[in-house]
Amino acid sequence: MNKQYYNEEFQNIIQPILDNEEFKKTKEQIHHGISRFDHLVRVSYYSYLITRVLGLSYKETTRAALLHDFFLEETKDDSALKALQKHPYYALENAKKYYDLTDREEDIIKTHMFPVTFKPPRYLESWIVDIVDDIAGMYEKYKSSCNEAKAAVNFLIIFMINLIQK
Ligand SMILES: [Fe+2]
Ligand SMILES: [Fe+2]
Repeated sequence: MNKQYYNEEFQNIIQPILDNEEFKKTKEQIHHGISRFDHLVRVSYYSYLITRVLGLSYKETTRAALLHDFFLEETKDDSALKALQKHPYYALENAKKYYDLTDREEDIIKTHMFPVTFKPPRYLESWIVDIVDDIAGMYEKYKSSCNEAKAAVNFLIIFMINLIQK
């Protein structure tokens, strides 16, 4: 676990999923230029922080954010757009093999690509994971060429917390 994410409560929530042998395989897969595992932990951590501060269902959010891209294979004949639209369902199907998901957790995984997928999130927690995933994806894609990206991510997260709290 990257030290910058270390937080005992966060760690306790995610540990049962990190211990799953199938989930460990995400360490071998590259996503946005880093391992899918690192992407999932990053999205989960920032989603945890935001929903915890806002007094939302942070445990469900943390778990679902960790599972939002939990799949090992996409269908090869999917076009790029189809892959963007379908992978939340691959992740949901896969996550359900290993975990009993609540309605909120299912919604978070299923709608994390909105508006690329057409069905909007039903919960505030799902909107938060959707936005955190977008920002994390941008950061991961451009961080090697843009040193300010990290500061921008932090700024955006603080801005979002302030905005939602008003
Ligand atoms: Fe995704
Ligand atoms: Fe993602």
